[in-house]
Formats: sequence, C-alpha cells, structure tokens
Amino acid sequence: MPVKKIGILASGGDSPGMNAAIRAATRAALHYGVETHGFSDGYRGVINRESEPLTSRSVAGLLRQGGSIIGAGRCPEFFDADVRQAAADSLRADGFDGLIVIGGDGSLAGAWELHKLGVPTVAVPGTIDNDMPGTETTIGADTAINTAMEAIDRIRDTASAHRRAMIVEVMGRHCGYIAVMAALATGAEMALTPERPVELEDVFKELRSVWGHGKRHFIIVLAEGARWSAAELAQLINDSAEPYDARYTVLGYIQRGGVPSRFDRILATRMGVAAAEALIEGRSGALVCWRNGNCEAIQADALPPKSAPWDRMLDRVFAITT
Ligand code: ADP
Ligand code: F6P
Repeated sequence: MPVKKIGILASGGDSPGMNAAIRAATRAALHYGVETHGFSDGYRGVINRESEPLTSRSVAGLLRQGGSIIGAGRCPEFFDADVRQAAADSLRADGFDGLIVIGGDGSLAGAWELHKLGVPTVAVPGTIDNDMPGTETTIGADTAINTAMEAIDRIRDTASAHRRAMIVEVMGRHCGYIAVMAALATGAEMALTPERPVELEDVFKELRSVWGHGKRHFIIVLAEGARWSAAELAQLINDSAEPYDARYTVLGYIQRGGVPSRFDRILATRMGVAAAEALIEGRSGALVCWRNGNCEAIQADALPPKSAPWDRMLDRVFAITT
C-alpha cells in the first residue's frame, strides 16, 4: 500500500532542532510525492484530530528557529489504552498512512503503542537529555550543552573574583549527560550526576584539596536528578566549615530554547529525512538512531538497555584534566 499522507508531531520536552527535523521530514516526504500534516501539541493533537498541512514554504527558515512550529507537549491521556485505540482509529479514518514522532524516550513508548495498534510509526530522538539508548545523541543535546557551557564560563568569572564555590544545576531529568559534558567543556572541578552518586564527604574533601592548591574558584555542575539540588548543596557547604563560600544558579529552561547549533541542525535534518524515508519504505516501530556518523532506523524492541550515555573513558579524562 503506497504511502500518500503522513502526520508528524513533537512530544515531551521540546528541544532546539525539532523544527529542523520537521522541515527536513516535510521536504523529504514532498520529494517522494507524500503529503505531511503537523499535529499540534504532541499526542493531544492526534487525540483531538488537530493537524495542519505542512508545505515546503511553511517550513522555510526553520533551521535556525528553536522550539516547535507545531507545538510540543505532554499528554497524560495517551497512557489510556482506549484513548490510544481511538487515536489509531481516527488516524486511519483521516487517511494517514504513517506518523513521525519527534520526542524523548516517553514519546517513543507512545509511538511503539501506536505501532502495535497497526499505525506505521517512526520516531526521531528529540530531547536535550540524550537519555535514549541506541542513539549516540539526541536532537537538542548539543545546543543545550553549548548554552550551559556559555553560562558556566560566565559564572566561573565571578566565582574566581570572590573565591567561591559555584554550583550550576542543569537539566537532564534522570540523566547526567548534560552535566558531564558541560563540566568537561568548561574545566569544572566536579560533575554530580544521578548515575554516579557521591558522598557529601567526597565533595568536602575535593573542596579542601582544591582550596589548598590555591584555586580561587570551585565549579560544580550538578544534574537536576542528582542526590541534592543546587540549593541544598550550597546550604550544606555553607553550613559546614568548608573553605569556599558557596552560591548556586539553576539554568533551567534556557537550555531548552535558543538557536540550534550547527551540529543539531545537521543531525535533525539527516534524522528528519531518514524518518520520512523509513516510513515511505514501509518501516514501523523504529527509532532513527545516530551511530558512527550515520542515521540508522532501529526497531524499538531491539534497542539496548538504558545505561549512562557516557563511558568510563570520559570519567578518566574528566578526572585527569580537572
Ligand atoms: P519525553 O518523550 O521527552 O521522554 P515524556 O516521558 O513526558 O517525555 O512523554 C511524553 C508523552 O509521551 C507523554 O505525555 C505521553 O503522552 C506519551 N507517553 C509517554 N510514555 C508513554 C507510554 N508508556 N505509553 C503511552 N504513551 C506514553
Ligand atoms: O526531558 C527534557 C526536559 O527538559 C528535562 O531535562 C526536564 O527535567 C524536563 O524536560 C522538564 O519538563 P517540563 O518542560 O514538562 O517542565
């Protein structure tokens, strides 16, 4: 059965580059004579049958635009099997031959459910967290790390001026990837992540040692899923007799927006094309993964188990260079 009309949606937390993927998927589909319609605000748009046709013109200029022109979002109703069945039925009734889902691991789970209900779906990893097994990275992670890096460079200036310990909390949900990579890129003294929990005494020991070497600042990049929040850790340091005065900054949602980096624009473009082509070739239940510099559509039930998205080599490099 030839594919003639597909839908596309962005789900979960938005990320810089989602628009580039929407643009590429739309233009790739048009190249093969396939119509694309954008569903608004994630799965909610599918449930409510709210979609708009996407044309080559309507996706122009999206490479350099953060956010998502079709919205993004979370939709708790989609956890309900009856709601999903109704959504699958309406997609078929409205003539959709397939669906591209851009989002994180939760959105991928939703796409897999639709696949099981007979709706051809292909997912594209769109999240700043880079917490999706099987793909080396996800759309938006690079831009988010750049944003965090620029902020940490600024914070380091004032930390040095005041001989302070500065704790910078970054996003990532339960994943420490943004924290580790931003710490590596800025030469931070410590990265605290959910995957590698440490004792408070370990932090204090490091603070004393670095103070003893005469360093005027101590930067801790802390993943939001780590053992303490930035506020809690700053309080613990200030309540102790540790040498540095501590302050904290929570970067928050600036990591989710902004102009996509060169890397994310190209990654998203290649993944958007790969997703459209996979659907048109008849694939379903797959995630477009970035592997060794290429896009590969891997079946969601063949993806590896979740693990820390960096390897121990990075831990060694981090330990040596800080
Ligand atoms: P992300 O995709 O960024 O990980 P979430 O985990 O919040 O974000 O998932 C986004 C949306 O995907 C949810 O609001 C829900 O609509 C859908 N979803 C997530 N997990 C499932 C699931 N197991 N079954 C069905 N739908 C799901
Ligand atoms: O999953 C992306 C993400 O930005 C996480 O890093 C963060 O914890 C979460 O979304 C925030 O979700 P929301 O935008 O719903 O507050």
